[in-house]
Amino acid sequence: MATTTATTTVLHCRDPLNERRADAHFAAEARQLRAAGGTVLLIDHDALLAGDAERAVARVPEGTGAVWYRGWMIPAGRYAALDAALRRRGGELVVTPEAYRRAHELPGWYETFAGLTPVSGWLPVGPGVVPDAEGLGALAAGLPPGAAVVKDYVKSRKHEWDEACYVPDLGDPAALHRVVARFVELQGEFLTGGVVLRAFEHFVIPQGSAAEVRVWWRDGVPRLVTAHPDSPVAEVPQAFEPALEPVRAAVEALGCPFVTTDLALRADGVWRVVEVGDGQVSDLHREADQVAFTSLLTADRALLRTPSPSGTTPA
Ligand SMILES: Nc1ncnc2c1ncn2[C@@H]1O[C@H](COP(=O)(O)OP(=O)(O)OP(=O)(O)O)[C@@H](O)[C@H]1O
Ligand SMILES: [Mg+2]
Repeated sequence: MATTTATTTVLHCRDPLNERRADAHFAAEARQLRAAGGTVLLIDHDALLAGDAERAVARVPEGTGAVWYRGWMIPAGRYAALDAALRRRGGELVVTPEAYRRAHELPGWYETFAGLTPVSGWLPVGPGVVPDAEGLGALAAGLPPGAAVVKDYVKSRKHEWDEACYVPDLGDPAALHRVVARFVELQGEFLTGGVVLRAFEHFVIPQGSAAEVRVWWRDGVPRLVTAHPDSPVAEVPQAFEPALEPVRAAVEALGCPFVTTDLALRADGVWRVVEVGDGQVSDLHREADQVAFTSLLTADRALLRTPSPSGTTPA
């Protein structure tokens, strides 16, 4: 049985219209944390992203010690500024800025998951900058021939699949340039890190199941298995557990305390890691077990290291 401690403190984003309330998207999590004996503190996400970390933490009391963050995504640089602002008032983030960047951005986790995730390459570019033909050609040359997917270090434009995400044939430089240019244009100022190209793999949806399974790891232990938040279906396939064994080693090697891995079933029956994320900013499926989720943060760390016989703690 996991224990809860009154010392678990979580920084949530405040409601943009009410500085005393958690953002509606995280209100249920905040309620559940308080019910489990944890402490909710609020930060101003808008101020943080605008570059004013001091104002973002203005409502955080002095001397909090180590705290979790749970809210909207934060660019890695701004996350470091949040940590620095907390440190000036006797606090700090449990997940260090280095660990956050490692889990949040594809170049941070890619090597550790090589073999489990589609072959990928990237080119650092700033917002609005389309890599030149030479750069794109070199990127494409590093991938197997065929189709590819475009994204930045954190996000894709999957809802604009044909125009800004999917490249049908890497052997067609004009089409590659067109999709990448449209991606860069649509990402605008939010383009993070650079342009990533990933080999396209053919995924299938197990019958009656979510297309992607999001696994939540605490200190290298798969503690909660949910459908990807976009999935209309909340069910996760039975007999999924064996798929986690190779992923477990990679998560351990990554060395981040709270991460998610999104797994999809390839047409040949192999489970693949589509994406890794920092658990603090990974969205939770609306039908997921809130109590189990909260216990990911409140449970005693020592207990989490005890492997369960099946290898997976039931959600
Ligand atoms: N290499 C690939 N091969 C096939 N499909 C892919 C590949 N990469 C991504 N996809 C598809 O595109 C979707 C979006 O990709 P990804 O999860 O990397 O981007 P995202 O925008 O960060 O999404 P999320 O909402 O999960 O944060 C995936 O859910 C998957 O369906
Ligand atoms: Mg994804």
